[in-house]
Amino acid sequence: MTKEQMRTGAFISFEGGDGSGKTTQMARLADALRGLGHEVVATREPGGSAGAELIRKLILEGDADRWSPLTEALLMFAARRDHLERTILPALARGAVVITDRFADSTLAFQAAAGGLDESAVATLKELVVGAHDPDLTLIFDLPIDEGLRRAGSRGGEQRFESKGRAFQEKARAAFLTIAEREPERCAIIDARGDVADVAVRTMEMVKRRLPFLFSA
Ligand code: TYD
Repeated sequence: MTKEQMRTGAFISFEGGDGSGKTTQMARLADALRGLGHEVVATREPGGSAGAELIRKLILEGDADRWSPLTEALLMFAARRDHLERTILPALARGAVVITDRFADSTLAFQAAAGGLDESAVATLKELVVGAHDPDLTLIFDLPIDEGLRRAGSRGGEQRFESKGRAFQEKARAAFLTIAEREPERCAIIDARGDVADVAVRTMEMVKRRLPFLFSA
């Protein structure tokens, strides 16, 4: 048996703009993988551990300009380190599948590309905090901004990130697409337009193609 066939767990991140539907799709994938007998840890950022959830409250509450982009990135990476140490790495060590709603690419997209923070600052923090623990697969849910804002609006998104406006979201979208181009082995773009059921099929097909060992008996 090869090393690849012996693998049981995997680390998957879901990324994309506000209203891209990734959270719904993540729940579906988690259910499907549980149905195959995997232990699935479905988690999110900012958050995903007790300490990181406390930091999440600090980050998401208040005015849009409450934190500078650098301060915000430092808070994101502080939360991310706790999330990795307390939730993600222990679960992967048990052979679980970890699926996270956002990870380090979000900091590159939102604090750097959209927020104006120097990309190299984020790269430095990522190296320190994430090191070699990149996801095995990152699914980037891509959707035109207008549609994303409409969907996010209809679910009553009140948070400060959703108040940052269209230009901000456009820059983040472009950044996610650039990340996918730069790291094609880790990343895959999912067209998030259309029905939930159609997007779920695209998502499942991509996970099967990229991580086939999760589907072998
Ligand atoms: P959340 O309500 O979970 O939104 P979403 O469903 O879009 O993920 O809030 C998370 C917000 O935090 C979201 O607007 C993106 C933002 N964010 C960053 O700006 N940088 C980051 O590194 C992360 C993880 C999230």
